Amino acid sequence: MAEPSQDEDPSGREWWASEDFWRKCAIFVTAGMAFVLVVLTYHTHTVILAGAESGRVPAYSVINNRIGYEFNDDRNMMVPVIGPLAPLFGEALSEDEARALVDHGKLTVQARNCMNCHTLLGNGAYYAPDLTKAWLDPGWGNEEARELLMTLFLKDPVANARTYGTNRRMPNPELTDDEVRGVIAYLKWMSAIDTNGFPSGFTVLPQGTLSTGSES
Ligand code: HEC
Repeated sequence: MAEPSQDEDPSGREWWASEDFWRKCAIFVTAGMAFVLVVLTYHTHTVILAGAESGRVPAYSVINNRIGYEFNDDRNMMVPVIGPLAPLFGEALSEDEARALVDHGKLTVQARNCMNCHTLLGNGAYYAPDLTKAWLDPGWGNEEARELLMTLFLKDPVANARTYGTNRRMPNPELTDDEVRGVIAYLKWMSAIDTNGFPSGFTVLPQGTLSTGSES
């Protein structure tokens, strides 16, 4: 078939049936979608950036606050609620200090390959519980005991195994005290990420047992 010219289709077909028209359509749609992809990439980046105003991921210094987890009627799902001051290990940190501590925890979790058994934000293996909301897990008893029990568990998960009737046990990862603090900070920060209700069906640790001194 002859190449159609710019002006008229030699085949005598209607303009909307010409090869030339559809070739231009393909070029415009591809270019338009490439543009949309670039815009969405930037938008996603701003939404997942820690501390972004419009985002779902809180600033690292959120570990200075009490993290609640409540049902939101409008969204019909569980949503993290950032509460009053309740510093992790009783020590309020600056944003930089908090980021350094959370980073240390995240790198520890990566270096020790906790994903070999656990999922974090849905990624990983399904042998052990998802750790996304582990900070809010009822297994820690209540908010007062949580920091101590998490520390004891991570220092020696064999002696402090709960297993919840699964008979599965976590081997001792031999973490240093600093690594344990980092991991707990990382888990607390992660529990404050709005994950659209993931994991679903999650039961929350009894709320409101922590006296923060700033609540009326
Ligand atoms: C060999 C598999 C395995 C590895 C690797 C592993 N865990 Fe576990 N973990 C488990 C099992 C099984 C449980 C549940 C048993 C229990 O609670 O006694 C568990 C429970 C936990 C809990 C309690 C979760 C909750 O919601 O109550 C935390 C926190 C945890 N692990 C953190 C870690 C961290 C951090 C690492 C990496 C340093 C890690 N685990 C590596 C198997 C593993």
